[in-house]
Amino acid sequence: MDIAKATKKKVVPTIDPMREEDVTDFEVSYSEELQEESAVPIIRFDSVSKAYSNGDPALENINLSILPGEFVSLVGASGAGKSTLLKLIYSEEVPTTGTVLFNGRDLAAIKRKHLPYYRRNIGTVFQDFKLLPQKTAFENIAYALEVYGKPTEEILDEVPQILEIVELENKANNLPKQLSGGEQQHVAIARALILQPKMIIADEPTGNLDPVSAEGIIDLLLEINQLGTTVILATHNQALVNKVGRRVVALDRGRIVSDVMEGQYVFTDRRRPAKTV
Ligand SMILES: Nc1ncnc2c1ncn2[C@@H]1O[C@H](COP(=O)(O)OP(=O)(O)OP(=O)(O)O)[C@@H](O)[C@H]1O
Ligand SMILES: [Mg+2]
Repeated sequence: MDIAKATKKKVVPTIDPMREEDVTDFEVSYSEELQEESAVPIIRFDSVSKAYSNGDPALENINLSILPGEFVSLVGASGAGKSTLLKLIYSEEVPTTGTVLFNGRDLAAIKRKHLPYYRRNIGTVFQDFKLLPQKTAFENIAYALEVYGKPTEEILDEVPQILEIVELENKANNLPKQLSGGEQQHVAIARALILQPKMIIADEPTGNLDPVSAEGIIDLLLEINQLGTTVILATHNQALVNKVGRRVVALDRGRIVSDVMEGQYVFTDRRRPAKTV
């Protein structure tokens, strides 16, 4: 199957009609072409600081713009603030000061009850896969559509296409425990992808994987990015960041210390500040 064709296929969200206004409210109101022309950042951090209640600031004065279609690797030592930055994007945490904007829209203005609609713009991938253990690969992906009330025939049409993209069509009926770690992460990525998000945020997605499986995950994220989805990858993995060879944003104790296009991640020691060249 043609991967480009499959992922570009328009998936019209089927939702409770009573809530349709809420959803359209969060749809980006201008075309993708226009986005490129006007270069509205898909994500913008404007003087953002985040302090959890019991400690030092996790992020301090973050100013960052990410354009639609970018692939950004977010690097830094353990505790540097990578996950916190991703949580602010997903609106799982809120800034202590400053503003986070998605497509020019202040996330603080989104009502709590509308957050699920906002979050549909963002696919999430985590180190520990977060698959439902009693559901097969197929069912785990289908479930993401079921919760939005997709008709069964559309689910039966779309899930095999996504399984093919992540090269797991032969493992559709396997439970997570019957899949390798790499395969489980492919399922998790398929689940993130099936809702056609504008952006994927991946928090250390290769952390539990052997080097070969990890490379497979990065290749898949690159492929998804080439088809237009913005990708933000938080990772410690120097070799993978260097393989990606795209924009690298380095955090050190909550501050951005470097932001380079086609960057390299030069320090391997997780306890030392990350540097890029
Ligand atoms: N829920 C929380 N409550 C209090 N402090 C937190 C919380 N989450 C994170 N922190 C603190 O915020 C800082 C940044 O943590 P964060 O998880 O963002 O780092 P990270 O770069 O993702 O680290 P790692 O590479 O280990 O995942 C750390 O000092 C951490 O202890
Ligand atoms: Mg983290």
